[in-house]
Amino acid sequence: MNATLNSSSIESSPNASAAPAFDHLAPRAQEAAAREASARIEIIRGDWVIRHDAVVQGLNAARWLLEGPRRTRTTGLLVTGEVGAGKTTLAKLIKRLYPVSAGSSDEPVVMITLTGARHMRTVYGRILEALNGPVKATHHTADREMAALRLLRAVKCRGLVVDEVQDVLAGSVNEQRRTLDGLKYIMNEVQLPIIATGTPAAAEAFRSDKHMEKRFDRLTLPTWVVGPELAALLTSVARILPLRRRSRLAAVDIMEFLISAGEGNLHDMMTLIRHAAVQAILSGSERITLGGLETARTVPSMEAIDHVDDDLCA
Ligand SMILES: Nc1ncnc2c1ncn2[C@@H]1O[C@H](COP(=O)(O)OP(=O)(O)O)[C@@H](O)[C@H]1O
Ligand SMILES: [Mg+2]
Repeated sequence: MNATLNSSSIESSPNASAAPAFDHLAPRAQEAAAREASARIEIIRGDWVIRHDAVVQGLNAARWLLEGPRRTRTTGLLVTGEVGAGKTTLAKLIKRLYPVSAGSSDEPVVMITLTGARHMRTVYGRILEALNGPVKATHHTADREMAALRLLRAVKCRGLVVDEVQDVLAGSVNEQRRTLDGLKYIMNEVQLPIIATGTPAAAEAFRSDKHMEKRFDRLTLPTWVVGPELAALLTSVARILPLRRRSRLAAVDIMEFLISAGEGNLHDMMTLIRHAAVQAILSGSERITLGGLETARTVPSMEAIDHVDDDLCA
């Protein structure tokens, strides 16, 4: 299981051998662990992603779709998971696989979120916004559709990532159908694979549409339970958090606590771990313990974080 530290604040040290060895950590985290407390807290609070099995599968399936030859009958991927399972995180990772530099002919992946979108008109509007195209309130659906399709073709869009698709379900049955038809239309007209993410309710809606059901592969992001997968996830987390002492996150009592406290939800587990890790730096204990996690529902003191490096300056 790999971890990605997206924080640009982890610089590679030109002289890594000068850093004290924190051999319970991954190499980049070892360097980070040598830094001052505030920098380490920033990393812990930052944007790190564990590439657990479902994430690896999702990235692979996405690459398969997005790097394949353009076909007349385009296919898609539907990623489902409960709120906080990591859908948006995965969607952003997929988009980041295809960075676009200004003035280049890079073929972008366009990502939109359907939060609050109940009409295809809004969906086209979101696509236009994502491509910095014109979105006029007065535009009818047909105008927006034409503009959106034209732009998607013009930029040679490689694929569309559509986050929070379950929100189309908030509309009436007819609106739902029109939106699903609209997505199919985009797939056909621009020969664009679609990677959709949504809650299990979205899976139901896709299942109710014969064409969608056939065209979309499925991937489920897990609700976690105590077991080897969770142990591997937590071992990866412990290896990238820049704490100076070893935390035994994969111990059974810690796993049981995290699962019962967060009901297997990744977001809830990660929130507790983040709080406990920051608290471990503030207290100087430098490791996450069961006791630390049990009190980690409370957000660490911002006042303490503000002054964490004061000793260094004194
Ligand atoms: N692969 C991952 N590695 C580490 N943390 C993750 C991962 N996926 C999700 N998280 C944590 O869970 C939170 C919620 O994830 P998110 O992708 O927004 O869930 P969803 O979109 O399914 O509601 C993130 O802010 C992050 O803290
Ligand atoms: Mg989300």
